[in-house]
Amino acid sequence: MDTEKKVAAHYTHGALEKTILDTLQAAGKDIEKLTATDLSAVDEFHLGWRDATIAFAKDLRLATGARVLDIGSGIGGPARYFAEARGCQVTGIDLTPEFVQVANALTHRCGLADKVEFREANATGLMFDDGAFDTATMIHVGMNIPDKAAVFAEVRRVLKPGGKFGVYDIMRAGDGEVPYPMPWAGSRDTSFLETPAAYQRLLAYAGFEIESETDRTGFVKKLAQKRRAQAETSGGPALDLIILGPDMKQRRTNVMGALQGGLIAPTQIIARAI
Ligand SMILES: C[S@@+](CC[C@H](N)C(=O)[O-])C[C@H]1O[C@@H](n2cnc3c(N)ncnc32)[C@H](O)[C@@H]1O
Repeated sequence: MDTEKKVAAHYTHGALEKTILDTLQAAGKDIEKLTATDLSAVDEFHLGWRDATIAFAKDLRLATGARVLDIGSGIGGPARYFAEARGCQVTGIDLTPEFVQVANALTHRCGLADKVEFREANATGLMFDDGAFDTATMIHVGMNIPDKAAVFAEVRRVLKPGGKFGVYDIMRAGDGEVPYPMPWAGSRDTSFLETPAAYQRLLAYAGFEIESETDRTGFVKKLAQKRRAQAETSGGPALDLIILGPDMKQRRTNVMGALQGGLIAPTQIIARAI
C-alpha cells in the first residue's frame, strides 16, 4: 500500500457522520440547527483545538471575503471557523474520502455551504488554477507527508503573489524516539516529522519569505490542562475520545508525553508568497 492509502486508512472511521450526530444529540444539541461552535469540541483535529485556530486566523489577519485554501481540512472545523468568524470563502481539500463527505455534510447542517466546500485531493497535486487563492492554511497535516517540497510548490502556485501561507504542524524539536501510536499515525511508517528549520528551508525554496515562527508548546500545555480539568468536572470522557475511539486515549498520552519531553513542538509558521 502506498503512503497516501495508508494515511487515508488511518483516518477512516467507517461511520463517522452518524457517530458525531448521535454524540451531539446525546449532549443535548439540536442536530437540525447546528452551529460551527456546537461542533468545535469534535471537529478541530489538532493540538490547541479551537483556541489554536482562533490564534492562527488572527496571526494570518484573515479578512472578510478572502479566498482561503485549507490543505488537509479534516472534517472541517478550521475551515468553518474561517468562514463563520472571519467571513472568508473557504475551499478545503483532503486525502481521506470519509472526512471530505462528513465535512460537507456538517457544513450543510451549519448553513455554511455557500461559504465553504470540501474536495478530495492530494496536497502534492492541486486541481486549482495559478493564483486562485489569497491565503492558504495547513494545520497538522505535514506530519503525514514525506514530500513537503511538492506541497509547498503547489501552494505557492495556487496563491497569488503576496498571499500568505500559514502552517501549523507538529514539528521535530529534540532527538530521541518518538512513541507510537500518535494521533496522526499508528507507526513511524506514515510519520514524517521535520524540524522548523527544515520547514523554513523548504518554504524558502518554494518561493516564500518567512514572516514569523511561533512555538505553541506552552499554549497547548495550558489548554490541555484546562481540558483535563473540564473533563473531570463533567464526569465523562471528552467528545473527541468517543468519536475517535478508545485507541485515541493512548495516542493522546503519547503525543502529550513527547511534548512534555521536548521531542516535538506544535509550531506555527507564517510565510508570504514572493
Ligand atoms: C490531524 S488531521 C488535521 C485535520 C484538520 N486540518 C484539523 O486541524 O482539524 C490531518 C489531515 O490531513 C489529511 N492529509 C494527510 N495527508 C494528506 C495529503 N497528502 N493530502 C491531503 N490531505 C492529507 C488527512 O486525511 C487528515 O484529514
